[in-house]
Amino acid sequence: MTEIKNEKLTVTHPNGSYPIFIGRQLLANVSEMAQIDGPFVVVTDDTVGPLHADKVKGATAVIQVPTGERFKTLDTIRTIYDELFENGLDRKGTLVALGGGVVGDMVGFAAATFMRGIDFVQCPTTVLSMVDASVGGKTGVDMPQGKNLVGAFKQPTAVFADMDSLKTLPQVEISSGFAEIVKHGLINDPDLFQSFEADSWQLALDNPSTIIDTLQTIIARAIQVKIDVVQEDPYEKGRRATLNYGHTFGHAIEQVTQFEVRHGEGVAMGMVAAANMSARLGYCDETLQGRIEAVLEKVNLPTRIPAHLDPELLYEVMHKDKKTAVGKVRFILIRDVGDVFLQGGVPDTAVFESIRAVQG
Ligand code: GLY
Repeated sequence: MTEIKNEKLTVTHPNGSYPIFIGRQLLANVSEMAQIDGPFVVVTDDTVGPLHADKVKGATAVIQVPTGERFKTLDTIRTIYDELFENGLDRKGTLVALGGGVVGDMVGFAAATFMRGIDFVQCPTTVLSMVDASVGGKTGVDMPQGKNLVGAFKQPTAVFADMDSLKTLPQVEISSGFAEIVKHGLINDPDLFQSFEADSWQLALDNPSTIIDTLQTIIARAIQVKIDVVQEDPYEKGRRATLNYGHTFGHAIEQVTQFEVRHGEGVAMGMVAAANMSARLGYCDETLQGRIEAVLEKVNLPTRIPAHLDPELLYEVMHKDKKTAVGKVRFILIRDVGDVFLQGGVPDTAVFESIRAVQG
């Protein structure tokens, strides 16, 4: 079977545009394809670095940070700055983020602030970061008060979604990424969601090497949803908030479990809870929750919030989430596949009832 061709999508933002390359063997050509004309430093983590950093040719240095959301902090940013100074990077330098969403968010923030701002390139190596985190310019770190509470909008100069990096990705991480793909179907691509319902992708998630072409097709489609949303609303004044469908519950679940629950897993549980709440409030048919659960199960994602998590604690964490406006938690609710919306003033009783309804 012939491999499908590399693709190039374009994101337009208020200050310009950048390409997203999706395909095979891209990492070897990052410097040339991103038209980097000064020194560049690759920043990665200690999981991805040993697997893929040597594929990016011509770097002045490779900086490795510890792996995991626990390290997405200002302390880690400080260590990145220190190493950039040690390697003599100046304003003409470029940072290349190589890794998942945690690395991309931190490197983007370091690039936004180092020397008051230098260029950066995103090389997402997970499904999750390819379809969501690497596109749209949100960067930042977590704080003890909550996720992503300190950051900046900083657009990359190019994004490279190299399918070959998915070959080494554990199955749980592939599944975790599918939470965002399913979410993008629910937000703005009903055909994509329905194709999962029809099982036409025939995913073999436990062996990503065998389905790289299929993954590329799905990922490109999910990226296009993200592009359409961030182009319309780059600074999250309105529609972009819908990308947080499932995230208000999901972030809280991640945090109260100290990130034992992966981001995609939390989002999957959160999408089920948000559908439950939408039906409870009369916005959607009760069957929608079951449809979402069925698709999530197909890609090996959890659909129940662990029973031992205290709803009061989840609620408290949600209140600290950045999506709180004037003290009220706002939720992204769903009317139907392809029709999600931001809603404030949701009664606390509905929040608690929905959490309890989907615990198990
Ligand atoms: N991940 C949500 C956003 O980029 O807005």
